[in-house]
Amino acid sequence: MEACLYGPIDGFYTTGGSAGRRGDFITSPEVGPLFGAVLARWMDSVWESLGRPHGFTVVEAGAGSGTLARSVLAAAPQCLTHGRYLAVERSERLRSDHPDGVEPLVDLPAGPVTGVVLANELLDNLAFSLLHGVDDTWHQVRVGADQGGLVEVTAEPCDPPVPLEPVDGARIAVQTEASQWVSRALSILEAGSLLAFDYCTTTAEMASQSPGEWLRTYAGHERGGNPLDAPGRQDITVDVAIDQLPTGASTMSQADFLTHHGIRDLVDAGRLAWSERAGIGDLEAIRARSRTIEAAALVDLDGLGGFTALEWVAGP
Ligand SMILES: C[S@@+](CC[C@H](N)C(=O)[O-])C[C@H]1O[C@@H](n2cnc3c(N)ncnc32)[C@H](O)[C@@H]1O
Repeated sequence: MEACLYGPIDGFYTTGGSAGRRGDFITSPEVGPLFGAVLARWMDSVWESLGRPHGFTVVEAGAGSGTLARSVLAAAPQCLTHGRYLAVERSERLRSDHPDGVEPLVDLPAGPVTGVVLANELLDNLAFSLLHGVDDTWHQVRVGADQGGLVEVTAEPCDPPVPLEPVDGARIAVQTEASQWVSRALSILEAGSLLAFDYCTTTAEMASQSPGEWLRTYAGHERGGNPLDAPGRQDITVDVAIDQLPTGASTMSQADFLTHHGIRDLVDAGRLAWSERAGIGDLEAIRARSRTIEAAALVDLDGLGGFTALEWVAGP
């Protein structure tokens, strides 16, 4: 997964893969600017709770081409008047598209940070290991090369990431990288919040399902093939097992999170702006009008609204 997505020569994100209409899949920021506008309100609420500090820092990780950063900056949250927006993105190609007003970084800053760390659909894109139940024991599944293709090799017995009885034929992902990434992000956060949005599961739920339900591939807005096929030409993404992440997060659906942080107010303001400007029909009027449609997609519990918002609060 690491090589397929991030290989320096032919990794998916190195060579051309991305979120967005002209990319391979749609994420919440790519639906339109409303997601960023709500997150700007959330950032201001964290800033207020910390006593409105100068130098409040937003660290957006897995920032892609900077779409979310553009929306947040356009919403002009007060916390950024004397603050900074750091956009962390591994892919140099995507980093080069970041807008003015953000500081592009290849990895998390050293810290300490007072502010927020934000990651939309990052954890599902971090490489995981795979275990397979054989003879009442979990075994690691390794990937090797064979006649120009990639093949699975079942290797040595291995402890599961959380206590879980092995079931013959079952598979689970081991998400050490995602867990370590969350720990690292929390370690740089002196005060504030770490917020991650993703499609989530538990390790036991994975074991009870066929792997095709929690391990998916995408390319050009279509479901892709087997993860071992076409290395570097399709996204590989996995549901995030919450029970493998550091404890202490509060969780709610994306729909509830956005509702709690005022998505309805923004939609109502958009409706009003549309009714006042519909006759002019300018870009601002159209943007205001499209908020209703964006909101429907962002809170749809069968789609993006059903994602989980995980928030860890760090504090003095
Ligand atoms: C699924 S995309 C999400 C992009 C964006 N957040 C969005 O919601 O549209 C995941 C992004 O995370 C980046 N990425 C993966 N691992 C990373 C890491 N350790 N640090 C920073 N970016 C990373 C990938 O290159 C990719 O652009």
